[in-house]
Amino acid sequence: KAVYLNGSYLPLQEAKVSVLDRGFLFGDGVYEVIPVYYGKPFRLDSHLQRLDNSLAAIRLPNPHSRSEWRDIFAPLVAADKNQYLYLQITRGAAEKRDHAFPENTAPTVFAMCADIVPFAGTQDGIAAVTMDDSRWRLCHAKTITLLANILHRQAAVDQGGGEAILIKDGNVTEGAASNVFAVLDGVLVTPGPSPALLSGITREVILELAQKNAIPCRESAISAAELNSASEIWVTSSIRELIAVVELDGAVVGDGKPGPLWQTLNSLFQAYKQ
Ligand code: PDD
Repeated sequence: KAVYLNGSYLPLQEAKVSVLDRGFLFGDGVYEVIPVYYGKPFRLDSHLQRLDNSLAAIRLPNPHSRSEWRDIFAPLVAADKNQYLYLQITRGAAEKRDHAFPENTAPTVFAMCADIVPFAGTQDGIAAVTMDDSRWRLCHAKTITLLANILHRQAAVDQGGGEAILIKDGNVTEGAASNVFAVLDGVLVTPGPSPALLSGITREVILELAQKNAIPCRESAISAAELNSASEIWVTSSIRELIAVVELDGAVVGDGKPGPLWQTLNSLFQAYKQ
Protein backbone atom coordinates (compact mmCIF):
# COMPACT_ATOMS: atom_id res chain seq x y z
CA LYS A 1 0.00 0.00 0.00
CA ALA A 2 1.64 3.21 -1.15
CA VAL A 3 1.75 6.45 0.80
CA TYR A 4 3.10 9.86 -0.20
CA LEU A 5 6.07 11.37 1.62
CA ASN A 6 7.98 14.47 0.47
CA GLY A 7 7.57 13.95 -3.26
CA SER A 8 7.74 10.14 -3.40
CA TYR A 9 5.27 7.28 -3.29
CA LEU A 10 6.49 4.37 -1.22
CA PRO A 11 5.18 1.41 0.80
CA LEU A 12 3.80 2.42 4.21
CA GLN A 13 6.47 0.38 6.03
CA GLU A 14 9.22 2.29 4.24
CA ALA A 15 7.85 5.77 4.93
CA LYS A 16 10.11 7.21 7.66
CA VAL A 17 10.67 10.67 9.10
CA SER A 18 13.53 11.98 11.22
CA VAL A 19 13.29 11.97 15.03
CA LEU A 20 14.18 15.65 14.74
CA ASP A 21 10.96 16.30 12.84
CA ARG A 22 9.11 19.12 14.60
CA GLY A 23 5.90 17.15 14.29
CA PHE A 24 7.47 14.47 16.50
CA LEU A 25 9.29 16.83 18.88
CA PHE A 26 6.70 19.61 19.24
CA GLY A 27 3.48 18.62 17.50
CA ASP A 28 4.34 21.52 15.19
CA GLY A 29 2.10 20.87 12.21
CA VAL A 30 -1.39 20.70 10.76
CA TYR A 31 -3.53 17.99 9.20
CA GLU A 32 -6.66 17.28 7.22
CA VAL A 33 -9.00 14.29 7.04
CA ILE A 34 -10.89 14.15 3.73
CA PRO A 35 -13.51 11.48 3.02
CA VAL A 36 -13.24 9.78 -0.36
CA TYR A 37 -16.57 8.42 -1.58
CA TYR A 38 -16.49 6.16 -4.64
CA GLY A 39 -13.00 7.34 -5.54
CA LYS A 40 -13.79 11.05 -5.29
CA PRO A 41 -12.53 13.27 -2.47
CA PHE A 42 -15.60 14.84 -0.82
CA ARG A 43 -15.72 18.65 -0.67
CA LEU A 44 -12.05 18.83 -1.59
CA ASP A 45 -12.09 22.61 -2.08
CA SER A 46 -13.51 23.17 1.40
CA HIS A 47 -10.85 20.91 2.92
CA LEU A 48 -8.04 22.61 1.00
CA GLN A 49 -9.40 26.02 2.04
CA ARG A 50 -9.39 24.89 5.67
CA LEU A 51 -5.84 23.60 5.19
CA ASP A 52 -4.86 27.11 4.04
CA ASN A 53 -6.50 28.56 7.16
CA SER A 54 -4.71 26.09 9.46
CA LEU A 55 -1.35 26.75 7.81
CA ALA A 56 -1.89 30.52 8.09
CA ALA A 57 -2.72 30.11 11.80
CA ILE A 58 0.63 28.40 12.44
CA ARG A 59 2.51 30.65 9.96
CA LEU A 60 3.64 27.85 7.66
CA PRO A 61 3.47 28.52 3.90
CA ASN A 62 1.44 26.02 1.88
CA PRO A 63 4.05 23.94 0.00
CA HIS A 64 1.64 23.11 -2.84
CA SER A 65 -0.98 24.70 -5.06
CA ARG A 66 -4.50 23.25 -5.16
CA SER A 67 -3.82 21.48 -8.44
CA GLU A 68 -0.58 20.02 -7.06
CA TRP A 69 -2.52 18.65 -4.07
CA ARG A 70 -5.04 17.05 -6.44
CA ASP A 71 -2.19 15.43 -8.36
CA ILE A 72 -0.57 14.17 -5.15
CA PHE A 73 -3.83 12.56 -3.95
CA ALA A 74 -4.86 10.92 -7.23
CA PRO A 75 -2.58 7.84 -7.08
CA LEU A 76 -3.48 7.19 -3.42
CA VAL A 77 -7.22 6.86 -3.96
CA ALA A 78 -8.99 3.60 -4.87
CA ALA A 79 -11.98 4.06 -7.16
CA ASP A 80 -14.22 1.34 -5.77
CA LYS A 81 -14.39 1.90 -2.02
CA ASN A 82 -15.01 4.46 0.68
CA GLN A 83 -11.81 5.77 2.14
CA TYR A 84 -10.36 8.87 3.70
CA LEU A 85 -7.27 10.85 2.84
CA TYR A 86 -5.08 11.78 5.78
CA LEU A 87 -2.76 14.69 5.06
CA GLN A 88 -0.16 16.12 7.41
CA ILE A 89 2.33 18.96 7.05
CA THR A 90 4.90 19.70 9.75
CA ARG A 91 7.51 22.44 10.00
CA GLY A 92 10.11 19.82 9.06
CA ALA A 93 13.26 18.38 10.62
CA ALA A 94 15.59 21.13 11.83
CA GLU A 95 19.20 20.52 12.87
CA LYS A 96 18.58 21.30 16.50
CA ARG A 97 15.65 21.40 18.84
CA ASP A 98 14.56 25.00 19.34
CA HIS A 99 11.04 26.26 19.97
CA ALA A 100 11.41 29.20 17.55
CA PHE A 101 10.91 28.52 13.83
CA PRO A 102 13.94 27.03 12.07
CA GLU A 103 15.41 28.74 9.02
CA ASN A 104 15.73 27.04 5.63
CA THR A 105 13.97 23.89 6.71
CA ALA A 106 11.67 22.15 4.25
CA PRO A 107 8.29 21.09 5.63
CA THR A 108 7.49 17.38 5.92
CA VAL A 109 4.52 16.50 3.72
CA PHE A 110 2.76 13.20 4.25
CA ALA A 111 -0.44 11.79 2.76
CA MET A 112 -2.07 8.38 2.93
CA CYS A 113 -5.42 6.84 2.14
CA ALA A 114 -7.17 4.46 4.55
CA ASP A 115 -10.45 2.55 4.39
CA ILE A 116 -13.47 3.99 6.16
CA VAL A 117 -14.89 1.32 8.43
CA PRO A 118 -18.60 2.12 8.93
CA PHE A 119 -19.07 3.47 12.45
CA ALA A 120 -20.79 0.97 14.73
CA GLY A 121 -22.86 3.60 16.55
CA THR A 122 -24.59 5.06 13.50
CA GLN A 123 -27.96 3.28 13.73
CA ASP A 124 -28.43 3.23 17.51
CA GLY A 125 -26.60 6.41 18.48
CA ILE A 126 -23.99 6.82 21.20
CA ALA A 127 -23.62 8.03 24.77
CA ALA A 128 -21.73 11.28 25.34
CA VAL A 129 -20.26 12.94 28.38
CA THR A 130 -19.92 16.70 28.91
CA MET A 131 -16.73 18.12 30.38
CA ASP A 132 -14.92 21.43 30.72
CA ASP A 133 -12.99 22.24 27.53
CA SER A 134 -9.30 22.17 28.50
CA ARG A 135 -7.95 23.19 25.10
CA TRP A 136 -6.09 26.29 23.90
CA ARG A 137 -7.44 29.30 22.00
CA LEU A 138 -6.63 28.25 18.43
CA CYS A 139 -9.12 25.43 18.03
CA HIS A 140 -10.17 26.74 14.59
CA ALA A 141 -6.80 25.49 13.27
CA LYS A 142 -6.61 21.75 12.59
CA THR A 143 -3.27 21.16 14.31
CA ILE A 144 -1.67 17.79 15.01
CA THR A 145 -1.19 18.87 18.64
CA LEU A 146 -4.11 16.74 19.83
CA LEU A 147 -3.23 15.74 23.38
CA ALA A 148 -6.09 17.68 24.98
CA ASN A 149 -8.57 16.18 22.49
CA ILE A 150 -7.17 12.70 23.19
CA LEU A 151 -7.55 13.11 26.96
CA HIS A 152 -11.13 14.35 26.49
CA ARG A 153 -12.08 11.43 24.23
CA GLN A 154 -10.47 8.91 26.57
CA ALA A 155 -12.24 10.40 29.60
CA ALA A 156 -15.54 9.87 27.71
CA VAL A 157 -14.57 6.30 26.77
CA ASP A 158 -13.61 5.57 30.39
CA GLN A 159 -17.17 6.54 31.37
CA GLY A 160 -18.68 4.25 28.74
CA GLY A 161 -19.29 7.03 26.21
CA GLY A 162 -18.44 7.47 22.55
CA GLU A 163 -17.67 11.18 22.57
CA ALA A 164 -16.85 14.05 24.91
CA ILE A 165 -18.91 17.23 24.48
CA LEU A 166 -16.80 20.18 25.54
CA ILE A 167 -18.14 23.15 27.53
CA LYS A 168 -16.34 26.48 27.71
CA ASP A 169 -17.63 29.39 29.81
CA GLY A 170 -20.99 27.64 30.11
CA ASN A 171 -21.47 27.02 26.36
CA VAL A 172 -20.88 24.04 24.08
CA THR A 173 -17.85 24.38 21.81
CA GLU A 174 -17.64 21.01 20.02
CA GLY A 175 -16.82 17.34 20.56
CA ALA A 176 -13.31 15.96 21.17
CA ALA A 177 -13.15 15.13 17.43
CA SER A 178 -16.51 16.35 16.10
CA ASN A 179 -18.92 19.28 15.91
CA VAL A 180 -22.13 19.36 17.93
CA PHE A 181 -25.73 20.01 16.84
CA ALA A 182 -28.76 20.21 19.14
CA VAL A 183 -32.46 20.44 18.39
CA LEU A 184 -33.89 23.19 20.62
CA ASP A 185 -37.64 23.88 20.38
CA GLY A 186 -37.68 22.23 16.96
CA VAL A 187 -34.78 24.31 15.60
CA LEU A 188 -31.48 22.74 14.62
CA VAL A 189 -28.72 24.73 16.37
CA THR A 190 -24.94 24.54 16.18
CA PRO A 191 -22.38 26.96 17.64
CA GLY A 192 -21.17 29.55 15.10
CA PRO A 193 -17.59 29.63 13.79
CA SER A 194 -15.05 30.94 16.30
CA PRO A 195 -11.49 30.24 17.46
CA ALA A 196 -13.05 27.94 20.09
CA LEU A 197 -13.97 25.27 17.54
CA LEU A 198 -13.05 23.73 14.23
CA SER A 199 -15.31 24.66 11.32
CA GLY A 200 -16.16 21.12 10.31
CA ILE A 201 -16.86 20.34 6.68
CA THR A 202 -19.57 17.85 7.68
CA ARG A 203 -21.11 20.65 9.75
CA GLU A 204 -21.02 22.97 6.72
CA VAL A 205 -22.76 20.36 4.52
CA ILE A 206 -25.48 19.72 7.13
CA LEU A 207 -26.23 23.45 7.44
CA GLU A 208 -26.46 23.69 3.63
CA LEU A 209 -28.74 20.66 3.39
CA ALA A 210 -30.99 22.00 6.18
CA GLN A 211 -31.28 25.38 4.44
CA LYS A 212 -31.99 23.83 1.03
CA ASN A 213 -34.73 21.70 2.51
CA ALA A 214 -36.36 24.46 4.58
CA ILE A 215 -35.46 22.82 7.89
CA PRO A 216 -35.26 25.56 10.56
CA CYS A 217 -31.65 25.96 11.67
CA ARG A 218 -29.36 28.59 13.12
CA GLU A 219 -25.78 29.10 14.23
CA SER A 220 -25.74 30.33 17.81
CA ALA A 221 -24.42 29.50 21.25
CA ILE A 222 -25.80 26.43 23.04
CA SER A 223 -25.60 26.68 26.82
CA ALA A 224 -24.98 23.58 28.92
CA ALA A 225 -28.54 23.94 30.27
CA GLU A 226 -29.99 24.11 26.73
CA LEU A 227 -28.01 21.02 25.77
CA ASN A 228 -29.58 19.17 28.70
CA SER A 229 -33.04 20.10 27.45
CA ALA A 230 -32.40 19.31 23.75
CA SER A 231 -34.79 16.88 22.06
CA GLU A 232 -31.94 15.67 19.83
CA ILE A 233 -28.15 15.98 19.99
CA TRP A 234 -25.77 14.93 17.21
CA VAL A 235 -22.02 14.92 16.71
CA THR A 236 -20.63 15.19 13.19
CA SER A 237 -17.29 14.49 11.52
CA SER A 238 -15.74 13.32 8.29
CA ILE A 239 -15.11 9.82 9.62
CA ARG A 240 -18.28 9.18 11.65
CA GLU A 241 -20.60 11.43 9.59
CA LEU A 242 -23.80 12.18 11.62
CA ILE A 243 -24.11 10.35 14.92
CA ALA A 244 -27.02 10.84 17.30
CA VAL A 245 -26.25 11.20 20.99
CA VAL A 246 -28.97 9.19 22.76
CA GLU A 247 -27.59 9.48 26.27
CA LEU A 248 -25.96 12.56 27.80
CA ASP A 249 -24.18 12.31 31.17
CA GLY A 250 -26.21 9.18 31.92
CA ALA A 251 -29.60 10.77 31.12
CA VAL A 252 -31.70 9.72 28.12
CA VAL A 253 -31.89 12.25 25.24
CA GLY A 254 -35.35 12.45 23.60
CA ASP A 255 -36.77 8.94 23.55
CA GLY A 256 -33.35 7.28 23.65
CA LYS A 257 -33.22 6.67 19.90
CA PRO A 258 -31.84 8.75 17.02
CA GLY A 259 -34.57 11.37 16.53
CA PRO A 260 -36.72 12.35 13.53
CA LEU A 261 -34.55 15.29 12.47
CA TRP A 262 -31.47 13.07 12.60
CA GLN A 263 -33.27 10.54 10.36
CA THR A 264 -34.08 13.30 7.87
CA LEU A 265 -30.66 14.95 7.76
CA ASN A 266 -28.81 11.64 7.76
CA SER A 267 -30.85 10.49 4.73
CA LEU A 268 -30.21 13.79 2.97
CA PHE A 269 -26.50 13.49 3.75
CA GLN A 270 -26.27 9.89 2.51
CA ALA A 271 -28.01 10.90 -0.73
CA TYR A 272 -25.76 13.95 -1.14
CA LYS A 273 -22.59 11.81 -0.81
CA GLN A 274 -23.38 9.72 -3.89
N1 PDD B 1 -11.68 15.38 13.20
N2 PDD B 1 -13.85 19.32 15.58
C1 PDD B 1 -12.74 18.60 15.84
C2 PDD B 1 -11.94 18.96 17.05
C3 PDD B 1 -12.34 17.56 14.98
O1 PDD B 1 -11.23 16.88 15.23
C4 PDD B 1 -13.15 17.25 13.85
C5 PDD B 1 -12.80 16.16 12.89
C6 PDD B 1 -14.31 18.01 13.62
C7 PDD B 1 -15.22 17.75 12.43
O2 PDD B 1 -14.68 18.26 11.24
P1 PDD B 1 -14.99 17.57 9.82
O3 PDD B 1 -16.46 17.48 9.69
O4 PDD B 1 -14.40 18.49 8.84
O5 PDD B 1 -14.35 16.21 9.85
C8 PDD B 1 -14.62 19.03 14.50
C9 PDD B 1 -11.15 14.43 12.26
C10 PDD B 1 -12.13 13.57 11.57
C11 PDD B 1 -10.03 13.67 12.94
O6 PDD B 1 -9.31 14.29 13.70
O7 PDD B 1 -9.85 12.47 12.69
